[in-house]
Amino acid sequence: MKNQIKIEKNIDPFSKTISVSSDKSLSIRCILLASIAVGKSKIFNLLNSEDVNCALKVIKKIGVKYVRKKNYLEIHGVGINGFKFKNNTILDAGNSGTLARCILGLCSAVNRNLKLVGDKSLSKRDFSRVIKPLNLFGVNLKNSKDKLPIKFRGSNLLRPINFIEKKGSAQIKTCILLSAINTPGTTIIKAKSSRDHTEILLKYLKYPIKIKKLRNFDLIKIKGLNQFSSFSYKIPGDISSSSFFIVLTLLSKNSRLEIKDVNLNPSRIGILKILNKMQANIKITDKIKYNGEYIGNIKVESKKKLKSINCPESLNSASIDEFLLIFLVAAKAKGISKFKNLEELNKKESPRLNIAINFLKMIGIKVLRKKNNIKIYGNPNLILKKNYHIKNYLKDHRIFMMSVVAALTFGGKWKINDKDSIKTSFPNFLNISKNLGAKIN
Ligand code: S3P
Repeated sequence: MKNQIKIEKNIDPFSKTISVSSDKSLSIRCILLASIAVGKSKIFNLLNSEDVNCALKVIKKIGVKYVRKKNYLEIHGVGINGFKFKNNTILDAGNSGTLARCILGLCSAVNRNLKLVGDKSLSKRDFSRVIKPLNLFGVNLKNSKDKLPIKFRGSNLLRPINFIEKKGSAQIKTCILLSAINTPGTTIIKAKSSRDHTEILLKYLKYPIKIKKLRNFDLIKIKGLNQFSSFSYKIPGDISSSSFFIVLTLLSKNSRLEIKDVNLNPSRIGILKILNKMQANIKITDKIKYNGEYIGNIKVESKKKLKSINCPESLNSASIDEFLLIFLVAAKAKGISKFKNLEELNKKESPRLNIAINFLKMIGIKVLRKKNNIKIYGNPNLILKKNYHIKNYLKDHRIFMMSVVAALTFGGKWKINDKDSIKTSFPNFLNISKNLGAKIN
């Protein structure tokens, strides 16, 4: 079957050094901010994936030019309020929740009709989370439903808002920050901690933004309508993409891996903290600070004895895209692992909490669920012998890659559908797996 892979053998021991694809969150943010900077920005190491290519198509549609140079992408920024596009333009965000939410903020001041559309998975996702704050700014979204397609019209009479973001969603926060840039006056956001790449980038660009770290919240004050200059930026490797190989190594036999130049922003490395609490012994070396972000190398080795975890809820946002992998480790760990308040996991490219629970049950792991809290009963002796078929009905890239990691470490014979889904975030995932020695047909 086209687009399906087969795995029938665990990966043999390996000892290698790899690099993974560039960070998706930073790639999309650099494109969006470069589009409203004044002048030509240079972005090196931009992720070449479908989500990022969608972001480029979208900025082109709203009047921003870009040129692919040999080593970098040059974006010709038009400045704040510089977008030019026809009435009733259709913007297609493809599979990308980040792009879809953020583009609404970026276009909040354009007084033209726009229609935002996306693929089947994105069309199932919730947009009320950004519609609410945007309505407060004065964007005309009053009659919008909570789902795509969304018709909207920006306003040239935006007013600053005072907003509390309680979900710990960086997409909501970034949507508000981008809209605040289009708005006269100071917008104030009290945001539950989440990845802070946008704030760090804005500080690097000397944009007037102030951040006060409170206990589980950040208090952000941002002034609107301050033009900023174009910039140069080199995107580091993606910790979320690295995580597939971190867990592959951890669950394999006698293997060692080093991953070079990975973004280690503290708001993204929840998985490293969680796995080390489970006795994984992952090390970070050569850590440097680059334009406000931390970058370093990650070293990981196989580990036979892993311990269950009572996962602190405070790490949920910092590991939100990695829970599928953390659950695989919990399945192999000794004891009962507990995770709390994972409702956001069901709001991703597919309902990942539901899918993960079914997956774990399918491979014979006991899971108890109460609302959005789960307990995973680990089995260190887990060895699979049956046939498994992963259908992945919403073509979720992370479900595909997590299934590959399970198939390469747990035994059994696997068929996994929708290999093309990796194009979303990590196009060379299968090539790297094969270079490490995985037999994948
Ligand atoms: C992202 C934020 C997260 C994450 C997504 C990328 C971002 O979503 O799941 O893959 O780049 O801002 P939420 O902010 O909605 O949790």
